[in-house]
Amino acid sequence: MTRKAIKNPEGLKELEEFTRRHFFLNLVSGLLVAISGAAILYSVFRFLSPSQDGAAGSFVEIDESEITPGEAYFFKFKNKPAVILQQDGEYHVLSAVCTHLGCIVKWKDDVKVLECPCHAGQYGLDGKVIAGPPPEPLPLIQHSSADGKLLIGETNA
Ligand code: FES
Repeated sequence: MTRKAIKNPEGLKELEEFTRRHFFLNLVSGLLVAISGAAILYSVFRFLSPSQDGAAGSFVEIDESEITPGEAYFFKFKNKPAVILQQDGEYHVLSAVCTHLGCIVKWKDDVKVLECPCHAGQYGLDGKVIAGPPPEPLPLIQHSSADGKLLIGETNA
C-alpha cells in the first residue's frame, strides 16, 4: 500500500481551520439551543406546578406567630399585594390594592390605618374607607385559622 504525498499543505491547513471553526460554531449553537430549551421547560414547569403564593388553585399559609397585633403584615396573594391586620384577636385579610386607582396601600403606624400614597385615601383595619377618594373598601380575602396557621385562599373554610 502506498501513501500519497500531500501536495497541498496550505489546503490541508485551511481544511483543519475550517473543521475547528465548524466544531466551535456547532458547540456554541448547540449550547444556545440547550439553554433556550431549558429556559422554556423551566417556564412551563413553573406555570404548571402548584404554588404557595395563592395563585389559582392554591393558598397561602402563614404562621400566626408572624403576625403582630397592631402592625400590618404584607404578603403576595395571587401575585398581588395583600395585607393582614389583627384587631381584637380577629384577622382581617385584605387586598392591598387601592380601590381608587390601584396604587398599593402602605401601613401608617402612627395612626394605625392603611393609607394610599397616591391620593391619601385611608382605610381602617377592617378595610373600610375612612378618608379620601376610594369608592369602595379594600376587598376581603377569604381565610381560616387552624393549628396556629392562617390559611388564606381556602375555599371550603
Ligand atoms: Fe389610592 Fe387614589 S389611588 S387614593
